[in-house]
Amino acid sequence: MSYRRFTDCSVSEKLLYTFFMLLLGVGYVFAMLLIFIDTSYEDGTPGLSVEDINIKYRGNRSGTRLEQALIGKMKAYRTNKESSTITSWIHKGASEAEFNKTIKPILQTKCLICHNPALGLNIPDLSNYEAVTALGKMDMGDPVAVLVRVSHIHLFGMAIMFYLLGRIFVLAEMPVLLKRIIVIIPFAAILIDIGSWWFTKYTSPVFAYTVMAGGAVFGFTFVVQSLVSFYQMWFYKGSFKNQYIGSGGEYRRIPKE
Ligand code: HEC
Repeated sequence: MSYRRFTDCSVSEKLLYTFFMLLLGVGYVFAMLLIFIDTSYEDGTPGLSVEDINIKYRGNRSGTRLEQALIGKMKAYRTNKESSTITSWIHKGASEAEFNKTIKPILQTKCLICHNPALGLNIPDLSNYEAVTALGKMDMGDPVAVLVRVSHIHLFGMAIMFYLLGRIFVLAEMPVLLKRIIVIIPFAAILIDIGSWWFTKYTSPVFAYTVMAGGAVFGFTFVVQSLVSFYQMWFYKGSFKNQYIGSGGEYRRIPKE
């Protein structure tokens, strides 16, 4: 059994592959540009960082008016433990259930003496959930709907892209184990990358690192697959030649001497 290799391809087939890969390459440049424009300035400084990814998916949850007041002007009215309880509630997404359970009692005993709308003072109302969460809208990152949309577009798009590129790349000659690994890697990396968007948003900021790692790995395999294919297609003569073995028009591969 012999498999097709680039040496078996006609020039038109090679041209088709080459220009397909060329367009993919241009598309890839635009993808990088988008990351640069869209994500790398999330933290206010150029260059993609873990902080950028966190702000994009989790949001910038610190620096709300409530937190500022807790470490600033209102410092005298709370203990450190109360302050960190409130802060971690905000960072975990400020749920209403948790508010009623742990936050409300703190506010009632420590803050409502003054922050009570009934007193008519011109200071923020801290007596109910809506009023408290409105105190500096918390930035929770890209909304779920956006993440669902971007995830499904990426999964379909990337799967098709790497399937087609992989079809071309398998025509290359190389140790078979190496080839199998390079074919699989991008699919695993995409799953890790996109899965990590969700983990970053809902579990821990640590996953911003796997977002970056996943993206870097499939970017790298994209380049490897394209360059190896391009090189072998046009410049590599192959280590086998086809030998004519029968009247049925059959060939077999034999190593070049
Ligand atoms: C003794 C009365 C008093 C208590 C107790 C008090 N505050 Fe205040 N708070 C004020 C006053 C007065 C202001 C307005 C001060 C200003 O803007 O300079 C204020 C302002 C604030 C603001 C708005 C800050 C801003 O961004 O302008 C927040 C938020 C706040 N307090 C939270 C709290 C929390 C949380 C507690 C309980 C841990 C608390 N306060 C306890 C009197 C109080």
